[in-house]
Parts: sequence; structure tokens; C-alpha cells
Amino acid sequence: MRNKINIGILGGGQLARMSLMAAVRMGFEVSILEKQEGSPAGQLTDNEYTGWVDDKKILKNFIENCDVITLENEFIDYHYIEKIEKSGKKVIPSAKTISLIQDKYIQKETLRNKKIPAAKFMSVECDTKFEEVVKELGLPFLLKSRTMGYDGYGNATVYCDEDFKIAIEKLKTRKSKLFAEKFVNFSKELAIMVVRTEKEIATYPVVETVQKDHICKEVIAPADISPEIAEKAKYLAKKAIRAVDGIGLYGVEMFLTKEGAILINELAPRPHNSGHYTIEACYTSQFENHIRSVLGYPLGSTEMIKPAAVMINILGKREGEGFPENMDEVLKEKSVAIHIYGKKKSRVGRKMGHITAIGDKTEAILKKARKAEKIINI
Ligand SMILES: Nc1ncnc2c1ncn2[C@@H]1O[C@H](COP(=O)(O)OP(=O)(O)OP(=O)(O)O)[C@@H](O)[C@H]1O
Ligand SMILES: [Mg+2]
Repeated sequence: MRNKINIGILGGGQLARMSLMAAVRMGFEVSILEKQEGSPAGQLTDNEYTGWVDDKKILKNFIENCDVITLENEFIDYHYIEKIEKSGKKVIPSAKTISLIQDKYIQKETLRNKKIPAAKFMSVECDTKFEEVVKELGLPFLLKSRTMGYDGYGNATVYCDEDFKIAIEKLKTRKSKLFAEKFVNFSKELAIMVVRTEKEIATYPVVETVQKDHICKEVIAPADISPEIAEKAKYLAKKAIRAVDGIGLYGVEMFLTKEGAILINELAPRPHNSGHYTIEACYTSQFENHIRSVLGYPLGSTEMIKPAAVMINILGKREGEGFPENMDEVLKEKSVAIHIYGKKKSRVGRKMGHITAIGDKTEAILKKARKAEKIINI
């Protein structure tokens, strides 16, 4: 007999895993739907469904077992979410919100319609000429996949006609339409987590994200910016989430330009890498507030418990097992938190885990976290 609230998550990666851990801590049950058995989240629950949203039977079983459904990425065609909604189950974020976010071109149009600042962009069709784009956006510019892009896989920076041709060929393999975006000469990249229910909206601190090769490497919380810029960033982030009718948890990525302007880069309708630090650093983690918001419950405090926090992604350094060979070595660093995602295999550059350190001064904790990251062999 089921006597608990069961939260279904579409997807079983590390984001689902950490949301599951927060849910379980509060006594909820979690069901995971993922294509392969033994996913990072699936391995932590008996309610593991192996299959995907296009498998009617599996999806029906999954839906029937859950009280409410959420997701961990924006890659599920929103028509499937619509189908779940039609079955009578609530999905948070809704099909409507996902439809406004998952195609980055539509997302940018939605923001533009609400006068929310973002880099200038234009659609690129198969007959769009390099010169037309240069005329609109200047050089360099970015060519991006409208859908299915992550960790920079759907992006290419274009400096000349030759690059444009190569980028189109490369991105074509991702089977998505394309768009072009003006290159932003940013001084910092910022991000904010926003969580919203029908009754409340809350923001986490503005953080700085540092990407290497288009993948987030480090997060500094809070970002070293003026209170005015932080306020503006929070205001725009909330406005962006309202623009997509967003209920649930959202990551908002931004550029801070050298002139002090804030431009929205993109929205993520789910827990976000830039919010991992909140597990140790805030009264309520992004994952707990994800769960609270999905259930429509009161949100927890998004404030930090210490003045500073840093997060470093553990990216795969070799091919092989997904567990570090030298965990005992790493754990000698007593004041950092190590998270390993339980992926079966490591690959060079793959997100395998992360390290968080909290304290009074950014520099000191960054040193400790970097030291731990250097030692880890995964
Ligand atoms: N218009 C731009 N100007 C300058 N740099 C950019 C621009 N767009 C993207 N970038 C750089 O590329 C990174 C990844 O871009 P973007 O966020 O669009 O892609 P993504 O694949 O969805 O990434 P992720 O999944 O890591 O968020 C950005 O964080 C930024 O460093
Ligand atoms: Mg991004």
C-alpha cells in the first residue's frame, strides 16, 4: 500500500539524483523514468522505470504511480508533456513553459517580447548567407542549435565565411534548426536560481560561473559584483521566469558586459549546475526547493549560511570506471564536500561529480576545492 507522496522525474541523471536525495530526506517517494537501467537517480529507488516517454505502456505505468511529475532537462518534446497533462497529472514545469524554453529561438523571442535584454539574434535557414548574418550581428557571432544543445555541444563561434560553413556542417548533425547570436564581450558570466510556486517567488544569490571550453568549471557564490548589479540581475531573472509562466525551479544564465549591462543568455527549467553549491551553502538547497515547488509547498530560505561558497565540477580525466580510484586520498581534505554521481563510466570531460567548499573568504576555499579536484582520479 502506498501511503507517501510519489514524485516522478523524467530523466535519471545527476540532477534527478540530487532532487531525489532531497525528496527522500523529506520522506517523499520518487519514481525515475530513464532509458537505461541503473542511472544515477534510478539506482537509488525501487520505483525505477526503464524506457522513455515514447513508450506508451511504460509511460502509462509511470504516470499512474506518480502524484506529480517533474523533469531534469529541457529535451523532452513538449508534446509529450502535454500528453501527460491531458491524462490529468500535473507536470511542473508545464508543457507551455517547456514549449517556450526548449527551442532557444522561441525562448529569445519570448524574452524580447517582454523587453528583457539579451544578445541580438536572428534565425538562420539553409539559404541564409554569411554576409546577411554579419550585416545584422557583426563579427564574430555564434551559431547555435535551437534545440538539444548542452555544455556547448550545440554552439560554434564564427569568425569568417569558412567557419560559417564548417559550423553549419557540424551543427547539422544535431538535427536541429539553427540561429545566430551576436558575440557578447562579457566581463563575467552570472547565474541565478529562481524558484516559484503559485504563491511565492524566491531567488538564490547571484553567482559567477566560469566556463572552460563552454563547460561550467567553477562557480563562485556570491559573485563579486555591486549590490546594484545583483539587484538588477535578480529583477531580470524573475521577470524572465514570469515571461515563460514558469512554476518550479529555474536556472537563469546571464552575461555582465564591460559597460555593466546584464543580458540573459538562457533559461534552464530545472536544477542547474550553478546551483549545486546550495546543498552545503544555503539553508535550503536548490534540490529541496525544486521538490517543494513541484508540490506547491512553502519554499525554504534561499539564504547562504556562510559568506562564501565555491563549487568545482569534477570532469572525467580518463576513460574507465565512474568511481574515483583514490577516494581515500581526496577525503583527506577535511573541509570540502565531494559529490560523485554514480555514473557507470567516466569519459574525458564528462561531468562525474562536483566539489563544494564554504567559508568566510572565497580565495581560501577556492584553494582547498581546487586542491581536492586536482587529486581526484576519475
Ligand atoms: N553570445 C555569446 N557571446 C559570447 N559567449 C557566448 C555566447 N553564447 C554562449 N557563449 C559561451 O558559451 C557558453 C555555452 O553557451 P550556452 O549557454 O548558449 O550553451 P549550452 O550548450 O546550453 O550550455 P550549457 O548547457 O553549459 O548551459 C556560455 O556559457 C558562454 O561562455
Ligand atoms: Mg548555457
